[in-house]
Amino acid sequence: MKFNRGDVTGADAATFNDQGWTTVNLPHTFQNLSVLSTSYYRGIGCYRKHFTLGAEQTGRKVLLYFEGAMTVTQVWINGTALPLHKGGFTPFCFDISQYCTFDGSDNVVSVRIDNKLQGDIPPEKADGGYVDFVLFGGLYRDVKLIITDPVYIPDAIHDWSNNFAAPGGQFITFPAVTAASATVGVDTWVKNTTPAAVSCRLATTLVDDRGEIIQSDESTVAVAAGAIVKATQTLNVANPRLWYPWQPVLYTLFTVVYNGAAPVDMYKTKIGIRKLEWTKTTGVFCNGQPFKLIGLNRHQAWPFVGGAAPNVQQRRDAALLKDAGCNFIRCSHYPQDPAFYDACDSLGILLWVEVPTWQGNTASYTQTWRDNLVRFCRTMIKSARNHPSAAIWAAGPNEASLNTAFDKILNDAAHAEDPTRPTTMARNYNANPNTYDIYGGNWFTNLPASNPDPATLGFLNAEHTGHTYETARNATEPTLIEHAARHENMVHLGRQQAWIHGSLGWCAFDYYNGDGAAIKAHGVMDIMHIPKFAYYFYKSQSGGDNYNGSKHPMVFIANYYMAGSPLDRKVFTNCEQVKLYRNNTLVGTMSPDTVADKCAHPSITFANIAFETGELRADGLIGGQVVASCTTRTPGVAARIALFADPNTIEANGSDFSRVIAQVVDANGTVLPTATNSISFTINAAGTLIGANPAAATAGQTIALAQAKRSEGVITVSATSGSLSAGSVSITVKPMPPLETGIVHVSAKLPIRPRDRVKTMIGPRLFVPAEAGRLPMSVTVHDLKGRLCYEGAVKNRVIDLSKQRNVANGVYIVHIRALSPK
Ligand code: GAL
Repeated sequence: MKFNRGDVTGADAATFNDQGWTTVNLPHTFQNLSVLSTSYYRGIGCYRKHFTLGAEQTGRKVLLYFEGAMTVTQVWINGTALPLHKGGFTPFCFDISQYCTFDGSDNVVSVRIDNKLQGDIPPEKADGGYVDFVLFGGLYRDVKLIITDPVYIPDAIHDWSNNFAAPGGQFITFPAVTAASATVGVDTWVKNTTPAAVSCRLATTLVDDRGEIIQSDESTVAVAAGAIVKATQTLNVANPRLWYPWQPVLYTLFTVVYNGAAPVDMYKTKIGIRKLEWTKTTGVFCNGQPFKLIGLNRHQAWPFVGGAAPNVQQRRDAALLKDAGCNFIRCSHYPQDPAFYDACDSLGILLWVEVPTWQGNTASYTQTWRDNLVRFCRTMIKSARNHPSAAIWAAGPNEASLNTAFDKILNDAAHAEDPTRPTTMARNYNANPNTYDIYGGNWFTNLPASNPDPATLGFLNAEHTGHTYETARNATEPTLIEHAARHENMVHLGRQQAWIHGSLGWCAFDYYNGDGAAIKAHGVMDIMHIPKFAYYFYKSQSGGDNYNGSKHPMVFIANYYMAGSPLDRKVFTNCEQVKLYRNNTLVGTMSPDTVADKCAHPSITFANIAFETGELRADGLIGGQVVASCTTRTPGVAARIALFADPNTIEANGSDFSRVIAQVVDANGTVLPTATNSISFTINAAGTLIGANPAAATAGQTIALAQAKRSEGVITVSATSGSLSAGSVSITVKPMPPLETGIVHVSAKLPIRPRDRVKTMIGPRLFVPAEAGRLPMSVTVHDLKGRLCYEGAVKNRVIDLSKQRNVANGVYIVHIRALSPK
């Protein structure tokens, strides 16, 4: 698509010549920043996207779905203006069918985004007041073109006004959950945009993560012309495999709409069957099992690209947080990317999902500001309420002053959208009346002696530590150790009382300050997502309880073992016992003090271990066996640059990037914790480099981002610094995801385009997109009863199933797999 930073008169017109604009891919930010940038662009940016529709699409619904754009978005389709959208963190959708051409000629979507200060749009404020994070402008989340039959299941967000009285999509609930059985309630909205009434058959099928069909239900729903109607179905699941943070089992619900005999639309929702119970005095339970919540607050900002991190990095963030021992993350302070929610569903992380706000006195703002916030609250819930990860709705504004009347409006709005989950608000004041279900408070250095409002469903510490002990990754060792110790102390305090559900540290990653002044170094990882010592404290808190019994043993020495390093050697571990060796001689054996410290795995301090150049090794033992080990070596002289790529594989979609970490290391590979070398990166033609180049190392490390183009290949990044040996790393750029599992509606007359990445399935002919991988491929087609109907090799990209005896009109599960190329 085309992009121009700055306003352009006439760019809304279909005939506008955008040849001179820059070609970009989504997600996209108005302005790439250097890590330490102190200013960012607040203004207007314009995008244009051309596409064509063939005659076979005539009469179908064409929808344009924006996952998010910052902040005020005006869209035109072929020169016709659509309603203005306000708000940078919630999705919106337009039905553009009537403005499109269906003859193969050019259609153009023109988008103008205004990111100037918006006093009426939370989280910004009517008084222009400070917000402590940056609202990066741009089309920074994905945009989808959805083409469906005119009788269809509209997405939960399906028209620009987000008409709350007539929602869409599905709302899945679990009225009863036990180990023996579960009831799955499925509300589905069907929309009929044809001029005649229709009677539809709705077939809903529950498929487990192994592809096996577990249950199905069918019902009939009459939908008048132009109407949208809710159908309610119930599935009973015997011996359900329940979702827990430590065992995140997902099922998939397929709902197919039949208009007469013909299937006309299909909707797919991933679900986790679970029951969370929040109690006043005895804590939180998942499917009857008590557990404590531990986690961090997450801002979505990435170095250089701001909010425009691609889905691969949304997933990496979630994986990094799971690896950091978190079973709970607060989406501070706004709804986040759907790919992040998806990753939390499948990794087993519960979420506090929050309205976009930051401090202030909401009573002093405009009515429009408050109305917008209520709308964002409802949209946030409507678009995320089927995620098993979504645990609590923070309907209330972060740290805003008390406004009981407005709190009630927000709380009621949240319950109207979802009666099954509790609400909360992160308060920085106490003992005032509480409107929300769970008492959420930001307690940075201590905790209340009792729940400030015992009528609530328990207490959650939503932020601790943070600005009270700001610690950059290149801080001194005593500071880094004290930073970790403060997080440990707050986690320990939060585990002393049953009425405290758990604690969220402020915060996961350092982030750009809203006033442009500097980076806020409040994270347990820096802005480059590189760990500080405190990260390893969190990691040590997780073990079998976070991984379904699998211990995930770890041990980490929070000490650089240099001549001036603290002699009290701090160790984080989830093992029963640690043996510390100095240059291979045992100098101490210790076990965590679980009496004084209520953490799941208290840290250990080996006091006064004198320095002798060489190494310290900590062996972690469980049941007397060494199950984990960590060595820290006295850093020597800088010898080379070591490079690592996270991840090593990305997709050829033009926006995925890998985080390339460069370390200044000695001959042993030990990072030099004081190195500030200037590091120069080079990249081959297969990718594009984003970031400062050269970049100065901070505490021996820095990063660059290696972005994919739209073709597969291998990206190679090299890095040098003066006379040090160069480092190099390769990243595979694979084709867009193969179509592994989809449902095809085989119908001669009614071509269907399912909406989940399966872009090109038409009638009995299945078109395998080039992104699916190299030919040949194997295809298998099963009906919903699991019977094999077709199996064969795909040698060209069109598979014609119409000649197959066993495949009639209906719904099939199709697996396509690449056969390894000879
Ligand atoms: C809190 C606020 C957060 C962040 C934090 C810094 O008061 O809610 O957004 O600013 O302080 O520690």
